[in-house]
Order: sequence, then structure tokens, then C-alpha cells
Amino acid sequence: MYILGIESSCDETSVAILENDKVLTNLIYSQSFHKLYGGVVPELSSRAHLQTIKPLLDQAVKEANLTLNDIDIITATAGPGLIGALLVGLTFAKGLAFSTGKPFIPVNHIEGHIFSSFLMTPKPQFPVLTLVVSGGHTMLLNVLSDYEIIKLGSTVDDAAGEAFDKVAKLLGLGYPGGPAISKAAESGKRSAIKFPISELKNKYDFSYSGIKTAVLYHVQRNYPDGNIPQEDINNICASFEYAAITALTNKIELALKEFDFNSISVVGGVAANKYLKEQVLEIGNKYKKQVVFPDLSYCGDNAAMIAYRGYKIYQSGKTFSLDYKAFPSFFSEYFKNM
Ligand code: KG4
Ligand code: ZN
Repeated sequence: MYILGIESSCDETSVAILENDKVLTNLIYSQSFHKLYGGVVPELSSRAHLQTIKPLLDQAVKEANLTLNDIDIITATAGPGLIGALLVGLTFAKGLAFSTGKPFIPVNHIEGHIFSSFLMTPKPQFPVLTLVVSGGHTMLLNVLSDYEIIKLGSTVDDAAGEAFDKVAKLLGLGYPGGPAISKAAESGKRSAIKFPISELKNKYDFSYSGIKTAVLYHVQRNYPDGNIPQEDINNICASFEYAAITALTNKIELALKEFDFNSISVVGGVAANKYLKEQVLEIGNKYKKQVVFPDLSYCGDNAAMIAYRGYKIYQSGKTFSLDYKAFPSFFSEYFKNM
């Protein structure tokens, strides 16, 4: 079976084609012009998706050595995300499904991320302790099967990626912040400054507003004129990264002590973070668990993960009408305790 995936929920336009669970092509166009504005401008994002999506589809079909008629299932992200951006990909996919007569499967973006590690070989084994860390979401999940996801905890305020982006902005490192902070952190000392790691009532919840504010106060107190020497920027980044990542790895260890898992998987844009990967691999070693991180091209937003998830939903026998609407929340029937 050939599955077409379309992703347009935020600032990446992506088109992928899978042959069953094997990726034939996964094209990603990142709208880097948002850097000029210090963050994603929704209306500009929608317009850029509109301009890019058709050429990307043409290129994807060509690279996979197929024609549009060979595609068996058409999948697209239906939410959550920026509504205007979602509508471009979703409507385009519905139009394709209408004109080719092929089944249309809407996909939840977060579910796309959750199962993105199943694009890897070997795949994780259920039950999978899954940490979703992206620009918009931070969640720790017990993934029991393709159709059963139990939430253990989630952020009560900012997402992990959002914290990286906000701290980078206040240090003048630009957008997106994650890669810039990681790079600066490589030359800094993780123990230079002690930033807080939150403890919450639900021990699996996360909070990132305290650490972000602590970085802000540190900068205001020590650099009132706004000039921060590069060495200090490196130390702030390394210390922030240590606290932000330890907040995540602490919960992974807690969950491993309490529940039985066969694998650990970390997904979403922040899964590209090298320090996070090193720490989780160490935990995997300690607890003798398989650890699966998706390839970098499947960490950030991409259509391969959407196609894979759509394929699984198709296999469950579900069908969808072309009236299906885009949705803003991450809830889906596969989350059992939301
Ligand atoms: O999953 P994603 O591409 O988009 C959303 O669905 O949100 O995640 C983007 C987020 C951004 O906040 C970005 O700063 C963060 O992932 N990110 C990183 C790294 N690379 C990207 N955060 C920390 N370290 C990185 N190396
Ligand atoms: Zn995402």
C-alpha cells in the first residue's frame, strides 16, 4: 500500500509517501522567514503552505517513482495547530481524495509525533514510555498499543520547546531557540548557575514557567545594560539546558520505577536535543530498556509520521467523510484518560 501524508500544522510544509511502514520520501519545507519576526506569524504561515504544498506533492510523487493514481490512502494533519495553516493541508488532502476517489484519513498531530519512533528499525515494543517534547506540548505517556494511550502527566504551563524558545529570545539567540541554546551550551558549564527544577502535585506533571522567569531575573540582575559576554551566555545556556532536561529525565526514571515498560521513546522537536538523548540512553542502560529516538528528520514536524499514523488508523477499519473539520485541541478517542 502507498500512503500519502500531508503536514501543515505550524511552520513546516511537509509531504511524504510511505510504502506500508517504509518511508519512500519525506520532503520538509521549513518556513525560515518567521525568524525575522521572532516567532511564527500565523497568516504568513498559511500563505506559505499554500504556495509550497503543490510543488512538494509533485516532487514527492516523482521521487517515489509513482503517479498520483498509485496512492492508496490520503492522510493529513487535522489538528492541533494553527487553524489557517491546518486548513491548507487538510483541504488540499480532501480535494485530492475527492478527485482520486481514495480514502481520506485525518490525523492528530500529537499522535503523529507519539508514533514517529515506529518509523525506526527496530521499532519500540509496547508498552512504550513515551515523552512528547515539542514547541507546543510536553507529555509523559504510557502507550499500550496503537489505539490506547494513557496520559501520566503534562505541562501545567509552558511546553519544553517553548521554554527553549523564550530563553533564547531573551538571550538574543533568535528563533527557534532549541538548536541555538544547545550549541551555546556545548561551550558552557552546566553547574555554573542553579536554575529551579519544579516539583508538582501530580509527580508526572511538568512546569517550565519558573525556570524561564529564573533565567529572566538572572539576566536582569547581572546584566542591567543588556550586554552579556559570550562566556556567560554559554554558561546560562548550559545551566538552563541542564535544569530543563533534568526535569524531563527525572520523570522518566520515576515512571520506570512505578510501571512496567518494554521501551522508552522520546519524540517531538526537542527530541533533537543531544544532551537529552545522552541522558535518556544512560537511563535506558541503567534500567535495561530499549530506547528509541526518531531520526532527526522525524523529530520536528514532518509528514512521514502523519502518513504512518494515518496508515494505522486506516488498518483499524475507521472511515472518515470529506466533511471532516480541522480541530484545535489535542484530544482524540485514543487517549483513554484525558
Ligand atoms: O515538534 P516541533 O518541530 O514543532 C511543534 O509541534 O511544536 O518542535 C519545535 C520545538 C521548538 O520549540 C524548538 O526550539 C525545539 O523544538 N527544538 C529543540 C531542539 N531542536 C528543536 N529544543 C531543544 N534542543 C534542540 N536541539
Ligand atoms: Zn509538532
